[in-house]
Amino acid sequence: SALGCRIVELPRVTDARGNLTFIEGGEHVPFDIARVYYLYDVPGGEFRGGHAHRELEQLIVAAAGSFDVVVSDGVTTERFFLNRSYYGLYVPRMVWRELEDFSSGSVCLVLASQRYDEGDYYRDHDEFVAARAAAVLT
Ligand code: TYD
Repeated sequence: SALGCRIVELPRVTDARGNLTFIEGGEHVPFDIARVYYLYDVPGGEFRGGHAHRELEQLIVAAAGSFDVVVSDGVTTERFFLNRSYYGLYVPRMVWRELEDFSSGSVCLVLASQRYDEGDYYRDHDEFVAARAAAVLT
């Protein structure tokens, strides 16, 4: 996409006993995986995210249920609907993201290229848009 986001199709091992998907750093995601976290028990109508990252790259997977990921650089906005356990959304650095419309019982699994660092976040939208616009010029 224009923002560098893309849907990644993950390997699937289908089996009558239940299906299996695996993700290897550097293979199915273009980074080494430093951290895994997941969102769950998200109440209906809530949204998560609302920030961007200076360096962090992520792969976002709807491990269960479904939700929307809205990504933006302050100019262009794109919406991705995730509802399969074998699709991931790759989100590069310097992209604002909001997650919304979580289905009941959904699990948002996130693979991240770095460990948690609050200093890597833009939490102020105006600050992010200014920094992103400036970065494009350099
Ligand atoms: P935050 O990243 O704002 O959640 P969201 O993805 O919905 O925007 O994180 C919420 C809180 O959890 C914040 O206080 C930081 C903490 N946190 C960690 O301690 N480690 C982590 O890996 C993450 C993702 C969050």
